[in-house]
Amino acid sequence: MASFQTMENEWVSDCPLCGVPPRPIMTLGHQPLAQDLLPPDSAAGCVRFELLPQVCLSCGLAQIAYRPPSTTVFGETYPYRSGVSRTMRDHLRSLADHCLELVAGKPDPFLLEIGCNDGTLSRHFARRGLRHLGIDPARRAIEQAAANGVSVLNAEFNARTGPSILVDHGKADVIVAANVIAHISNLRETLEQVHACLAADGSFVFEAISLFDLMRRGAFDLFYDEHIYTFSATAVDALAGLFGLELVDCIPIASQGGSLRYSLARPGARSCSPRVGEALRKERACGILDARAWDDFAVVATRSARALRQTVDRLRRAGCSVAGYGATAKSSVALTFAELGREQVDCIFDTTPEKVGLVSPCDRIPIRFPTPNLIEQYDYLILFAWNFLPEIEAREAGFRAKGGKWITYHGSVCIA
Ligand code: TMP
Ligand code: ZN
Repeated sequence: MASFQTMENEWVSDCPLCGVPPRPIMTLGHQPLAQDLLPPDSAAGCVRFELLPQVCLSCGLAQIAYRPPSTTVFGETYPYRSGVSRTMRDHLRSLADHCLELVAGKPDPFLLEIGCNDGTLSRHFARRGLRHLGIDPARRAIEQAAANGVSVLNAEFNARTGPSILVDHGKADVIVAANVIAHISNLRETLEQVHACLAADGSFVFEAISLFDLMRRGAFDLFYDEHIYTFSATAVDALAGLFGLELVDCIPIASQGGSLRYSLARPGARSCSPRVGEALRKERACGILDARAWDDFAVVATRSARALRQTVDRLRRAGCSVAGYGATAKSSVALTFAELGREQVDCIFDTTPEKVGLVSPCDRIPIRFPTPNLIEQYDYLILFAWNFLPEIEAREAGFRAKGGKWITYHGSVCIA
């Protein structure tokens, strides 16, 4: 059994937008860093922190109360790769097209991507010979971006690098960030730099998990250390106003179980889509600013995690074999919160080369590549990468054809 140590975290007491204390949603227990995958023989102890999502009932911004240092989370070995799934590659191509439409007709536009990871998005700019820059602190990921032909800067986007980008490249016609802004602790510094680097008629386009969809689905496992913030349109509307920008569009997109593609521009520079008002109304109606709605969320999340544990126990007692699918950050949250470990879940299948051969944080569940031979030995697979359901079902059609069943666990446990 791995040894535990508790980490010194940054403790956050106020909403960064309103300055008032947010309301705790629920505790998800003492969690490891969700992507702290280890070599099987590692002697490193498992670091834990209390995962305590909270929500500001004034502006609808959710954040986690204790934050591990960003250098710990997005270090050298950060294993996530944007390009690993077809779904994400296709999605990022559509985001690239959206950015290209925004710069269409502009002479020599400059596109800046914050958090370019392996370059899956920015390579579309590179291929067209457009001036662009991808910035990211994760060294190994950005080496892949450079190999994809992307111009890169291996650093965080902050008050040090923002001004030097401005000097080297000038103002950006588009600043784009896909599932990145939620990861950056210092929202103020980031937005100030976005404001400084954006051309007068430029657009800041960012995608983030939608708090509305998370709440509606009961997706408690979307709260984890990498997601410091979970945005709602309500929160982004407030954020834009605070930093001299205007929320001009928010387009619902399917990624990560429901996200929004926000467009911010300087006030008056672009006309405002009716989608903004619609999203604000929908969020208000579903209770995003209502303490009772979040109490209900906590009850449902706790009940579904308990049901998952009971289901797996029952299946194991009946002699069935159970493994997981998708060594995602979500898997770490769900396993820890449901108190499931190596005794219950034999292994986790995942196609990411950087993850295969490692073990999950804390309980050290082995991560294996899903060859048909291996996967078809299992009776049940818990689907932790539930956001890729259609792609995974298609890839692993043999598992179901051999009588295997998928287990999902949001709201209630489903076996199908
Ligand atoms: P994410 O939900 O954090 O984006 O991670 C999805 C994980 O699921 C990633 O580690 C790759 C894995 N995966 C598979 O193992 N097989 C698949 O067919 C797909 C689409 C993803
Ligand atoms: Zn607030």
